[in-house]
Amino acid sequence: MSSFIASNPISSLAQREFVRHFGAKSSIIVRSPGRVNLIGEHTDYNDGFVLPLAIDRSTWLAVNPRADNRVRLYSTDFKESAEFSLTDLKSDKPEWAEYAKGVAEQLLGEKHALRGFDAVIATDVPVGAGLSSSASFSLGITRAFHAVSGFTWDSASMARLCQRVEKARIGVNCGIMDQLIIASAEEGQAMQLDCRSLATKAAPLPVGYAVVILDTKKSRTLAGSAYNERRSQCEAAAKFFGAQALRDVSVAQITAAQGQLDPLIWRRARHVVTENDRVEQAIAAMHAGDAVKLGQLMNASHESLRADYEVSCDELDEISALARLQPGCVGARMTGAGFGGCGVALVKTENATALATVVASGYQKRFGVTPAIYVTKASAGVSHEKQ
Ligand code: GLA
Repeated sequence: MSSFIASNPISSLAQREFVRHFGAKSSIIVRSPGRVNLIGEHTDYNDGFVLPLAIDRSTWLAVNPRADNRVRLYSTDFKESAEFSLTDLKSDKPEWAEYAKGVAEQLLGEKHALRGFDAVIATDVPVGAGLSSSASFSLGITRAFHAVSGFTWDSASMARLCQRVEKARIGVNCGIMDQLIIASAEEGQAMQLDCRSLATKAAPLPVGYAVVILDTKKSRTLAGSAYNERRSQCEAAAKFFGAQALRDVSVAQITAAQGQLDPLIWRRARHVVTENDRVEQAIAAMHAGDAVKLGQLMNASHESLRADYEVSCDELDEISALARLQPGCVGARMTGAGFGGCGVALVKTENATALATVVASGYQKRFGVTPAIYVTKASAGVSHEKQ
């Protein structure tokens, strides 16, 4: 058995629970990571640029193919089973199984011949924390279908397919960032993603710095409706410029348009246009090994998301501000959709542990909640192994 499977406690949990539930050993293990975004927020659905990395927390699936077309799932987190036939994918309880049915529906819609399978799902990606637990789950299910059914795996197409699941089954008209990074991440690297062409390229993380996740523990309430509203506002702004998407609008153009566009729409658009510009600067900074510049861009991104895009909240503002005050921290910002969830900080490796302690205690004092703060490592994208 390879160390990839053996050394991870969540993988072991999935395998143990598989034996308990299905009375046999699983023959396939799927690992599908969560993600954190360094910079480039709310740019993906504007055909723009993002700079995420896959994290070292993952959804694991212990899987056995079946001879028929049934899918039987057990989630160790929800302590709940779900079962469906590939010929009957109607919505039903439990809600988390919607992702699995949605994946099956999309794959069948693309004429892939599918086999059923049994799977136990275990994860250490916190749910609803802005680290893409849902994209991690849907890519994991897609990979399980790939492993048992044998169709060709193309990262960009599979990412698109899982993006469609969110819209069709969950009602969130999300961008492609989460699915694409989970499908195509490379170990040890952040990735620059062009959300129009879907081109991906590794971007070197600054040497001697740690990527620290700052989980506020505030769940992302109302994120879905506000998210869709932001997206429509961006579309309205693109229409004003006669552009296909805000990706095609320059900083000079948005600056010149002040007073001509509705002020709220203008601010939303200014965030997106300047954020795309910041991602390009961040990529240059990473290639130059300039961590300080990258950190400054992260801080500026947070400010733009707070003031112009209005997707931050007190908890995210505070945890990022506390992090910025700590020795060795060059930048901190909210990450993901916002309205709660996580921040991300770039910190000198030797200062990361102290930062975690001090920020946790400051945050606890203010909000009475203990945040989860930890260093993450850039991991590889979704994959599977046969045992
Ligand atoms: C969520 C969405 C992504 C992206 C981010 C914001 O994570 O799923 O597509 O839009 O929010 O950058």
